Amino acid sequence: MKITSRELRQKFLDFWRTKNHQIIASAPVVPENDPTVLFNTAGMQPLVPYLLGQEHPAGTRLADCQKCVRTVDLEEVGDDSHLSFFEMLGNWSLNDYFKKESIAWSWEFLTAPEWLNISPTKLAVTVFAGDNDAPRDDESADLWSQCGVPPHRIAYLGKKNNWWGPAGQTGPCGPDTEIFYWVGEGEPSLESNPGSDEDNWLEIWNNVFMGYLKNEKGEYLKAPRHNVDTGMGLERIVTVLNGVNTIYATDVFAEMIAKLEELAGQKF
Ligand code: GLY
Repeated sequence: MKITSRELRQKFLDFWRTKNHQIIASAPVVPENDPTVLFNTAGMQPLVPYLLGQEHPAGTRLADCQKCVRTVDLEEVGDDSHLSFFEMLGNWSLNDYFKKESIAWSWEFLTAPEWLNISPTKLAVTVFAGDNDAPRDDESADLWSQCGVPPHRIAYLGKKNNWWGPAGQTGPCGPDTEIFYWVGEGEPSLESNPGSDEDNWLEIWNNVFMGYLKNEKGEYLKAPRHNVDTGMGLERIVTVLNGVNTIYATDVFAEMIAKLEELAGQKF
């Protein structure tokens, strides 16, 4: 599928409109009322008060495209898929739907012919393996199976991979399930998944099931609310949909690179 970043952004927001989500504008990259971070690092950042229980004027189902500055993976910036400034597409349940709808709708958006029409053979997922703070997320694995994801494409990983938040030191967080796209040569082998073969799978979307709060003592407490926070990297999904192997080959960068080449008088 040939698709521009503008078309993809629109398609994502249109999809969530069909699921009764209100579209909200991106907050500025410099947070307005959050002393815990210098920049908005994720779609969740400007929404923290609402994840904690404040009523959002637009309701309990939101979707957006948040401009983010992220430096935790600075070492990887400059490779084919990591950026320090990027746009994150997200949908939000503020104590509304939870895992069942979130997973089914993500699968629908990715694979339905009228949306992204990605072949399920190109997709794999990871779910939280469980530890002393929270149990293994078998529910999410079952829900992926119901979508048709075969068991060998579901990997169970620990907190380093499958836990998201809080954005600062404390606050809402929880296990996540992550969706990956095959970027290896040919077709993935039967046993390949993002746990066993991580270099050949690119994360394109994560669904965080925010059912926990981390406190100052570093403890993870069950939260009184259940929220969903998803994050899909706009530049990454445009890359894989266009069948190119680097974010720099997408329309996001094409004009800038062409101008630089013109000014430099040489091709990069
Ligand atoms: N949705 C969580 C994140 O990746 O920012």
